[in-house]
Amino acid sequence: MESVQAIKQRFGIIGNTPALNRAIEKAIQVAPTDISVLVTGESGVGKESIPKIIHQLSHRKHNKYIAVNCGAIPEGTIDSELFGHEKGAFTGATQTREGYFEVADGGTIFLDEVGELPLTTQVRLLRVLENGEFLKVGSSKVQKTNVRIVAATNINMFEAIQKEKFREDLFYRLSTVDIHLPPLRERQEDIHLLFRKFASDFALKYKMPTVKLTDNAVHLLLKYRWGGNIRQLRNIAEQLSVLEQDRTITAETLRSYLPTTGSNLPAVIKTSKSEGDFSSEREILYKVLFDMKSDLNDLKKLTMELMKTGNVKDVEKNNEGLIQKIYGDADEDEADYEDTSEETEVLSIPEHLESMEDIGSTQDKYHFAEEIEEEETLSLQDKELELIKKSLERHNGKRKLAAAELGISERTLYRKIKQYDL
Ligand SMILES: Nc1ncnc2c1ncn2[C@@H]1O[C@H](COP(=O)(O)OP(=O)(O)OP(=O)(O)O)[C@@H](O)[C@H]1O
Ligand SMILES: [Mg+2]
Repeated sequence: MESVQAIKQRFGIIGNTPALNRAIEKAIQVAPTDISVLVTGESGVGKESIPKIIHQLSHRKHNKYIAVNCGAIPEGTIDSELFGHEKGAFTGATQTREGYFEVADGGTIFLDEVGELPLTTQVRLLRVLENGEFLKVGSSKVQKTNVRIVAATNINMFEAIQKEKFREDLFYRLSTVDIHLPPLRERQEDIHLLFRKFASDFALKYKMPTVKLTDNAVHLLLKYRWGGNIRQLRNIAEQLSVLEQDRTITAETLRSYLPTTGSNLPAVIKTSKSEGDFSSEREILYKVLFDMKSDLNDLKKLTMELMKTGNVKDVEKNNEGLIQKIYGDADEDEADYEDTSEETEVLSIPEHLESMEDIGSTQDKYHFAEEIEEEETLSLQDKELELIKKSLERHNGKRKLAAAELGISERTLYRKIKQYDL
């Protein structure tokens, strides 16, 4: 039997908390059997690796493993998805279709968010669990399947049973063995370890030095509630890795990334994945894209000017702002954002760029390219505007925090606020 440590390595599971080790140990023990397992724990605690471990360590490992997110399939189609349908069973059913229970015969089905299953589907599921029988939608022919079921939920199933949203008999049938994963805040010794692992992964991914936390920042990391658990921690590590120029993260910087809402939610909750979790990844991407695009456009503009006039000094003089924007301002953190007259530090354009008349013939081509860019830039500007608005909202209009989140200086943010008339 593989050791807990070996399994952790194989499935990329970080952490040493006894409760985590116990959960993995349980998964290893039940894997060779056909016992139904219910994995419980808050959102983002890592429930999805448990069914994978169980399948891989079972005699079913050469057969199919299908993960179904029960919460994501519309009520009207879930029976057909799981059990298949006959041709003509409903409008649009032009072909007979096999469901997951037929396809995964001999394998394992992971029913994620099982608490979201409609009651009618629960009846069908109970029958499969009890004797391996099911009916395709629109068929009266009983079919047999041999499927191991592992389910997961982040809602309080007892509450769901009380509210008659979940069948009690099905619950007991599904949870012959319960594997519980503890929330991150109860895994104190793992928090910093996980952060370091994520920070080093993201440093590699984005080819930047690894961010490091000061002692105070570590302290804050440990006492934060982590409502979104490991998913949230990973997300914050990614944001810091992408947005922070100073790679030493202070408690103050870290605090500006940690949402303060929702910190008093009860222990087992249906945390509909916090919007911040998902939108932030998109936002980071938009930001990186926008910055790249805008730099590229500025550079093109500058090159065009140079090609047209061929006079470096004039171009330098007429485009001080642009050059400063591309090559950076020396006094970024200056307090007086209003005063732009002092932006005098300008980088020189290398002399050899001075004679470029012969490229002038390609001007038309550049013109064409510029027209297309215009549109893309516009939609990116919309995204940037949206990003800035959201960030300001999140930080109650505090420019310093918003600028830190967006990875730009307060001065740049101020300029953008003016530009967009926010
Ligand atoms: N111990 C761990 N080590 C490394 N990464 C982990 C660990 N636990 C979870 N993760 C990562 O955290 C993220 C969330 O995990 P997962 O998707 O399994 O959460 P979940 O419990 O299924 O949440 P939900 O109930 O919202 O579906 C994933 O990216 C996963 O890889
Ligand atoms: Mg999940």
